[in-house]
Amino acid sequence: MPRDLPVCRVDELAPGKARLFEDGGVRVAVFNVGGEFHAIDDRCTHREGSLNEGWMEGYLVSCPRHGWQFDVRTGVCATLANRDVARYPVRCEEGTVFVSLPDPPAAEGGAAGDGVGSSSS
Ligand code: FES
Repeated sequence: MPRDLPVCRVDELAPGKARLFEDGGVRVAVFNVGGEFHAIDDRCTHREGSLNEGWMEGYLVSCPRHGWQFDVRTGVCATLANRDVARYPVRCEEGTVFVSLPDPPAAEGGAAGDGVGSSSS
């Protein structure tokens, strides 16, 4: 079940700006594009540059390390196919920006295995 987590007040993230939000090891880049808020995974799929530190052109953010571009509305990589980042739903309520993140994965070892690499010794 997704969790809606408060990121900041609406007036703390000006249009054209971004900020990093972290929860349980998940790094989320939250953007304000002309008053619309969007959230994608902060780690660039090239070499993990921090997308919240990139520069914006419309809905495209360019990674500060080597310039790969991502659409902040969808997470789609505009530079190379199949290198998209995750996108997270955002809503604003009573002046606060919320990001919806999936539940963290269950603790390792308790769930049924996927069978990969298992042995029967
Ligand atoms: S780390 Fe993002 S373009 Fe290289």
